[in-house]
Parts: sequence; C-alpha cells; structure tokens
Amino acid sequence: MVTSRFPHFLTLLISSVVFAASAEERPPYLDPALPVEARIADLLPRLTLDEKVGMIHAATKFTNAGVPRLGIPPLHLSDGPHGVREEISPDSWKPAGRTDDFITYMPVSIGLAASWNPELASAYAGVIADEARQRGKDVMLGPGLNIMRTPLNGRNFEYYGEDPWLSSRIAVGYIHGMQAGDVAVCVKHYALNNQETNRGSIDVDVDERSLREIYLPAFEAAVKEGKAYSVMGAYNRYLGQHCCHNEVLVNQILKGEWGFSGVYVSDWSGVHDTREAALYGMDLEMGTAKPIAEYYLANPLKHLLESGAIPLSVVDDKVRRILRLMMQTKLFEGRRPGSINTPQHQTIARQVADQAVVLLKNSDNILPLNVGSLKSIAVIGEDAVRLQARGGQSSELKAFYEVTPLEGIIHRAGREISVTFSPGYLAPIFRRTEETDAAGVRKTVMVPLPSLPQDQLTERAVAAARQADVAIIIAGMNHEINFDTEGSDKLSLRLPYGQDDLIAKVVAANPRTIVVVMAGGPTEMDPWLPTVPAVVQGWYLGMEAGNALAGILFGDVNPSGKLPCSFPRQLADSPAHTFGPDAYPGTGRGGVVHYKEGLLVGYRWFDTKKIEPLFPFGYGLSYTTFAYENVSVAAGTGAQDNSQPVTVECDVTNTGSRAGAEVVQIYVAPPAQGSVPRPLKELKGFAKVFLQPGEKKRVSVPLSPRAFAYYSVERKGWMADAAEYQLLVGSSSRDIRLTTTFAVHDTHAVP
Ligand code: GLC
Repeated sequence: MVTSRFPHFLTLLISSVVFAASAEERPPYLDPALPVEARIADLLPRLTLDEKVGMIHAATKFTNAGVPRLGIPPLHLSDGPHGVREEISPDSWKPAGRTDDFITYMPVSIGLAASWNPELASAYAGVIADEARQRGKDVMLGPGLNIMRTPLNGRNFEYYGEDPWLSSRIAVGYIHGMQAGDVAVCVKHYALNNQETNRGSIDVDVDERSLREIYLPAFEAAVKEGKAYSVMGAYNRYLGQHCCHNEVLVNQILKGEWGFSGVYVSDWSGVHDTREAALYGMDLEMGTAKPIAEYYLANPLKHLLESGAIPLSVVDDKVRRILRLMMQTKLFEGRRPGSINTPQHQTIARQVADQAVVLLKNSDNILPLNVGSLKSIAVIGEDAVRLQARGGQSSELKAFYEVTPLEGIIHRAGREISVTFSPGYLAPIFRRTEETDAAGVRKTVMVPLPSLPQDQLTERAVAAARQADVAIIIAGMNHEINFDTEGSDKLSLRLPYGQDDLIAKVVAANPRTIVVVMAGGPTEMDPWLPTVPAVVQGWYLGMEAGNALAGILFGDVNPSGKLPCSFPRQLADSPAHTFGPDAYPGTGRGGVVHYKEGLLVGYRWFDTKKIEPLFPFGYGLSYTTFAYENVSVAAGTGAQDNSQPVTVECDVTNTGSRAGAEVVQIYVAPPAQGSVPRPLKELKGFAKVFLQPGEKKRVSVPLSPRAFAYYSVERKGWMADAAEYQLLVGSSSRDIRLTTTFAVHDTHAVP
C-alpha cells in the first residue's frame, strides 16, 4: 500500500467532504470548488504505481500518458514562443500534414523585447493562449529566457536580449498573459543555454555572482513573480551535471530557494540518468531517443521504486506537480473555448511588429517617405520576399498568412508609385548528395544548385536603384543553418551572400537608399553604414511584417523600438569573444565553456571597458524628439528596509510635431569603490510613455528592492552596500539625459 504523507487537515477535509457527498456525485478531486491541494490529496492515493510512472514521461512526441480510468487526460505540450506549432506526428518530428493548424505568427521574441512593453507582452501571450486552447494545447514551450551572452547564438531571436531586468519584465508580462488564458508557460532553457554549439554536452563554467546576477534573474522573476506553471531544463551541463537533473540548479535554487511548485520538464532528450532524474528534480521526461518503456523515468525508475532504492515519495512529488498544473489550467473541468486566426489576433501581431522596429539611423530625415513626392521605389534583397515563419526548428510556425516586406511596400505605396523588385542576392539552395572522398569513404555533401551569378544579380539591383527615386534594401539573415536557428550558431556577424558589397554599390548609385535589416540579433554594418542615410532594424516581424515595415517607412507609425542588445562594431569587441576559444565556443563536445567575462555581459562590458559599440543597448530613434526635465527620487523608505521600492520620476515632453513613444530607462551606477567589483551601470527600471506633439507627462519608474544590490557569494544572498548611488535617466544606455543620486544609509541584506 502506497502511503503518501499529506497534512492531517487535508485528510479531515477530504473525509468530511466525501461523507457529505452522496456516492453517485463526482469525487472531490473533480470538484473545482475545492482547493487544488485538497483535490490532489484526494486523487493521488487513487493512482497505481504504473499510472503514476506513466504520467512522468512522454507517451508520444508531445504528450504524457493520462489515466482514463480516473478521468485524467494526457497533458498536451506544444512549441513555441511565437505561436502554436503545427501538429507534429505522434512519434516522429514529421509534420502531421493537417490543414487545420494554420495559426497567428507573432514577431519573434527579441522583437517583442525591443518594444520594451510588458503590457504588450501580455497581449502577445494572450493571443497564443487563445489559439493553444483552440488547438487543444495545455503547455506552451516558451518563453525562452536565456541571456544573449554571444551575438552568435543561433537562438538569440527566441530570447529577450542581453539584460536581466528587461528580460524579466517582458517574461513576467508574457507569463501573466498566457496563464490568464488557462495555458501553462514552460520557461526555457533553465539554465545557461547561451549557445547552440555543443549544447547537448557542454559544461558551463560560470562564477556564482554572474549566474545569480545575469543568467538566473529572468527565471527567478518568472517563477516568483510570474508564477510560471512549468520550467524546461536545458541540454547543457552546470557543475558537471545535466541541467535537466541538477542538484544545485533544481533542488537547491529552483525548488528550494525560489519555492517552485510547478513541473520541471526536460528538453527533448535532455535526460541522461534515471537516479539523477528521480532525485534531482526532473518531473516530466520528454523526447528521449528510446522506446517509451525504456525512458529513464519509465521501467528503469519503476524497478528502483519497487526495490525501495528510491522512495515512492519521489514519484508522488512529481505526479503532484503535474496534477497541480492540470488543475491550475482547468484541464479536469474543461477550459473555455479558444479562438484562432481572428482579426483581433492579427491586430495584436501588427501592434507588436509596429513597436518592435528600431530606427537606427535617419540622417537628412530621409524617413518617413512622403508618398506625395515619390514616383518610383526600387525594392532590393531576397529578404524582401522570403517567408520566415517556417524556419528556425522548434519555433517554426505554419502561419495563416505572412505579409512579406515587398508586399507591404507595394500595398502601402498604392497605384501612384511604381515599385520594382530585384533580389540583389540569393541564398544558395543546396542539394544533398553522396560522394566518395580520397580515402574511398562515401559521405554526404551539400552541393549548391546553379544560380544567377552574383555580379549579374548586383548589376540588376544597382540599375534598378539608379532609376528609382528611392531604393529600399531588405537585407539580413534567415533561419537557415548557421544563421538564426536552433541547432547551430552563426559563424560571423557579417551579412551573408555578398550583401555588404551590394549595399555599397546600390547607395553609390542612389544616395537615397534605406537599409532594413531582418535578423534575430546584431549584424556588422561598419562596411556600409557611413554612406547609408537610413537604417532600420526589422528582426523577424511575424505575419504582419510587411505591413508594419511599410507603416514605419511611410510614417503611418512612429518607430518606438529600443535595442534589447548591444550592436558591436565588430564581433571581436564582444565580451564572449575576447578571451579565446575556451570562452566561446569552449573546448568542444563534452568539454567546458568558460564565462571569463563574468558579470560584464553586453553593455556592462562595453561601458566598463570603454569600448564604443556600433549602437548601444536601449538605443532607438523616433520621428519626433523628447525632452527630459525635473528628475526626483520619491523619498520612499525603499532602499533602507526595502519595504517600499524607490521610485524615480521625471517630466518627459514630446518636443516634435508627431505623436510618439519614448522608453525612459533608469540605470543605477554604484560607487567606484564598493565592497565588490560591479559593472559601471545597470538597467534597474524603465517605462514606455506615449505622447502627443507638445504633450508632457510625469513618468514614474519604481525600482525593485534589488536595484542597489549585488549577490554576495559569502552570505549566499543579496546585499546592498551603504553608499551613494548615481541614478541615470536615459533614452538609451549611452544617452543619459538626467542624473540624480540616492543614498543607502546602512549595508543590509535584500530579499
Ligand atoms: C528543442 C528545443 C526546445 C523545444 C523542444 C521541443 O530541442 O531546445 O526549445 O521546446 O525541443 O521541440
């Protein structure tokens, strides 16, 4: 008889409810009026060991096993952060080939982060929750919260950039939006999955302060503030143990310190050991490359349980967590109906795309384009016509539609303006073939199919540009291998396929050239930036990409995006690329990657080392201008006992002639001589404010209790030193408009 220990009061509660209820009425665990914990307490003892074990590992590619006997449905999981993935075959990665799984394709995560708008992140996730319910999905595998340590990481497009505070705010907004829709998030990949190269085996060597201050905060906020119902373990190792079953990361920090009561899900084939998975926190094993019965948490675990080598309480805790998630998402009583591909969803996709675009350069105010004065536009670049939804591996989507940049520009230009298109460059298309090498060994090789010679492509594009009033080059990358995709990192930040040369020749032929870069992170622009009057960062903007880009270029929308990551002048300036191959990509398969830059990730590095980036973190231009005045620090007791957060206020005025939005950023600069070394300044608060021309608003930015704190390894907790801190109010991390100070009077611990 399996006796699970649960509080005495629950026993009384259950027995009293069961006594009161007549036999034919539903059992307590199905009564949504009862507290979740009471329902679980009633249900758990009813399960056999086999049923419990069947719930804690996969039964198909994206489900576990339910228990029909007791009315427990299987749990349906689905990718991904930008929309509900198409239906996958039950037992392979092949698409199921359905026709009812087209969905709303939202801008990618780094574009959402560029909006600096947590409320918009909630609306974004609410769309995906509606569509997940419609598609019968209970857990959405996202958002991705890994920090951009290197701009080469192939999956940076799936994450929120280089700063822990910005990532945390967008994550909490997203989680609230998703879980309010009765769909669980599964924040990923916990933790330190900051590169794709050797992701399955690399052991990350990072000091504990950097772990706590840079790489964990977004996950901590997701769990403690967002109340995430599930977390996904990463493929890599930390302290030599796989993150999917890691005693420090999972038992001590996630479930111990942070009190995570949800489900710890493995990345697909991220589990490698039965005993570790059982004892170090793995609750739901997915995607192991073995027959289901041989999963680490299937028969191998059952044998350990039956022999007593592992206590039954271990499996009960896992099942309790899964049942808790199922009850929190109302899976037993049935959730409200979903909706899919609605105009409202597409409107939100457009709103996010509008706020994601970052205006990087606009000399001579060439933008916005004036429809009335234009007769012809030459659109150049393969990314003007490339569909981006179905790429990137697990985050790929089957979009209901996707407006390309060219379509958006043609539609917005209308009949009065002639729009021509010339690809200018073409990504090679490869065919897989076999060949025998010198040693007589047969091997697979990828052979590029014949294509138009690059010089012809360039000539045609230059001719088109020369004959047009304006040239718009849609440059960038895509979701092919070694670009913006899961499973591989970029090999360079240079634009591929000869785009640098193309851009230089086009702008030489027509000085009125605008470059739009579609990419999931920074690219190197130095070769052509000085000669190009206008540059726009377009990320991958989802199904409304073309309409949003056209809206910005023609001035229907005033750009308000700010960079969630630094754009280095050259890759070598980036911190992860300063300390040799051991710092990136590490010492190879099964090896170690050393985070030698420590805390100095992104702008923390560029500021502290006084290296000028191409474009700084938090940067983005507008078609209007903003004035900042009258900064003050609300005299909350905040930093003393941390009962109330300190609030920074200032007046922001729209001093231009167009409505626009500004992101007021608050950076905290610690004293030069503190008890520990610290970055020169760190983002600790921000607010996005929308202003009509001439309008002034008083913007108030509350700082978190940790705004002045650092993580003390000795004290195993956060500490704020008594000192005077500078508070920097900026329009970007390098455009500081106002400064003030705040004194912390006594050194104290911070929760
Ligand atoms: C992948 C990814 C993860 C995804 C999962 C299921 O390998 O790392 O982000 O959710 O498998 O597709």
